[in-house]
Amino acid sequence: MSCTDVNAQDTSEIVAQRWTVHVEVCLKPRASARFDTIRNYVHSFVMSLERLALPSVLDGWEDIPELASSVEKITVCESQCPSPSLTMEEMSLQVYVYKPVDSDVYEEFSNSSGNRNEDDNTTAASVCELPNRNYEGLWDSLIYSDDIKMKLLDYIHATLVFSDANVDFNLITWNRVVLLHGPPGTGKTSLCRALSQKLAIRLSHRYAQARLLEINSHSLFSKWFSESGKLVQRLFTSITELVEEEDGFVIILIDEVESLTAARAGAMAGTEPSDGLRVVNALLTQLDKLKQRKNVLIMATSNLIKAIDTAFVDRADIVQYVDLPSREGIYEILRSCLCEIISKGIVSSVVVPTLKQVQIYELVNKPNGKSDSLDAQDRSKIVGLRLLGLAAQCQAQGMSGRALRRLPVLALARYIGIGNVSFGRPGSGATVEAWLDGMEKAVKEQAKEIEKLI
Ligand SMILES: Nc1ncnc2c1ncn2[C@@H]1O[C@H](COP(=O)(O)OP(=O)(O)O)[C@@H](O)[C@H]1O
Ligand SMILES: [Mg+2]
Repeated sequence: MSCTDVNAQDTSEIVAQRWTVHVEVCLKPRASARFDTIRNYVHSFVMSLERLALPSVLDGWEDIPELASSVEKITVCESQCPSPSLTMEEMSLQVYVYKPVDSDVYEEFSNSSGNRNEDDNTTAASVCELPNRNYEGLWDSLIYSDDIKMKLLDYIHATLVFSDANVDFNLITWNRVVLLHGPPGTGKTSLCRALSQKLAIRLSHRYAQARLLEINSHSLFSKWFSESGKLVQRLFTSITELVEEEDGFVIILIDEVESLTAARAGAMAGTEPSDGLRVVNALLTQLDKLKQRKNVLIMATSNLIKAIDTAFVDRADIVQYVDLPSREGIYEILRSCLCEIISKGIVSSVVVPTLKQVQIYELVNKPNGKSDSLDAQDRSKIVGLRLLGLAAQCQAQGMSGRALRRLPVLALARYIGIGNVSFGRPGSGATVEAWLDGMEKAVKEQAKEIEKLI
């Protein structure tokens, strides 16, 4: 396409004001329909609607037999569009059909040398096929206040389109390395997996298969350096085989990369065997070779960016800080926990306000009075405001997403009492107030525990 063609296309898009809307169609495990048949049905179904809410899970398609027999879920994804919904004229629709793989890991690289007395045979790397059922819903469960999921996805997607278009590498360089760093428990590893799953879905028309290879740097660069050398060799022989299949997309996740570079630094300072330096350098050289490949993306995570040497940071095109959640982010995480246990009948049913609603309640018409004498709407407001208060306490304590997601279990085990909950029967769950009491106590207890550590 010439430069003028591109301009012409751009102008028409601006005039038409069309937003790209991504619709993901997840198929049932036993679905046998052709993907393009399903895509056409979904396309027509969506076009028959008046408006589309962004983001949303679609329903109504169950009445179409071809979709009902094969489709599990149709999701309208988040979009750059600022308005909460769009008409069909305002959007350009992209439909992706995929069937997640059920199997877990299909190949493992272990540190074990086969010696029976070996006590350290943790897995150093593993490969899994994408899209994978284990990662379904992971993307949506991760909550960040500053839109970092969309930013990362769009950026990576854009660069992949660039390299697909065979843009001259001497003019525009792109190393295909993304580095996420920040405090532990902020969802970095999960975000890399969720991004991989998204990319596998979004790139499915270009790549027949996608795989995620996770390197656990910590076990790869453990004390067994002499073994690591062979392992890295074996690993990269396999990676090379994987990337040679040009219709396959390979994402390499190097988790906790600081242990890799700490090994390098230690070796240089003479405190670690020089073997380590050789192995780390070999790994960096191998990574450099991979950047010539269009079908590879390297993602790395780190809890301590200061511990990573510049040799690695320099290779990253995107360096993204992943922060502890804000009060609003925490509200949404706690809300998703509460909604889940309400849906499973552990807590009895109540409407938990969305973040937007509770922010309005915070500004105006705070209800007063005790919750038992109130109507359902007032009760819901009180629940929302208490949850927001709890979110503020959690934020003050600097709690991570990981710490937040385990609070409901602590609250149930210690304060609500497992005997008081017999889920499964409607109306048999604990009251939401009891749950909130339990959560508040659990947060206070965590604060005390942390004080003891300091
Ligand atoms: N921002 C977040 N939103 C929702 N859940 C989160 C978030 N951050 C962490 N979590 C939860 O904590 C768990 C552990 O996160 P993980 O990806 O291992 O963090 P990290 O790699 O940064 O240490 C995740 O599975 C997720 O359930
Ligand atoms: Mg991690």
